[in-house]
Amino acid sequence: MKRIILISAAIISTLISFNSFAQRMTPEEQAAAAVGTRQAVFKLLAFNMGPLQGMARGGDYDEAVAVQAIERIQTLATMIPEVFANDTTAYDFETRALNVVWSDMDGFASAANDLAMGASEALSIINSQGADGVRNAIQAIGPTCGACHDAFRAE
Ligand code: HEC
Repeated sequence: MKRIILISAAIISTLISFNSFAQRMTPEEQAAAAVGTRQAVFKLLAFNMGPLQGMARGGDYDEAVAVQAIERIQTLATMIPEVFANDTTAYDFETRALNVVWSDMDGFASAANDLAMGASEALSIINSQGADGVRNAIQAIGPTCGACHDAFRAE
């Protein structure tokens, strides 16, 4: 019983300190953090395209690695609208996100969904075609990256 109370107290004090940490951040600091988080999501997307591109260029085919990369891309795609929840257009940060992201959030979320659907298609391609499907799997994903960049990312 005493132990449970101690553990609860530890959890509560952790929650309180997280909360006050968030409160200590100014809106501008929160917006700057949001820019870093969203850019990290894209870095991770590119990171996970890496193994697929390596296999397409003649590297050894490893189905487990390909499937893992595609599943990660799918998960990251579903996070894109969330990491853009903070409208940072009021600040002059270094960012390539165009203001239209926030004026057309439905369109942006739909472009993110296209990536998730593309990843899901890539997964079935790998499952049915194995090594022969790597190029087609990339083809199911890559154009959805480019389509969103064309509409929502500065050159
Ligand atoms: C729904 C829209 C959307 C999709 C889908 C999308 N991107 Fe992007 N991407 C953006 C936007 C907007 C930025 C600019 C972010 C910023 O600078 O704040 C960006 C930035 C990037 C960056 C630069 C990150 C940095 O700052 O270092 C890379 C790399 C990138 N995307 C790769 C990809 C890849 C690879 C895919 C597909 C697997 C992808 N993106 C899919 C919208 C998208």
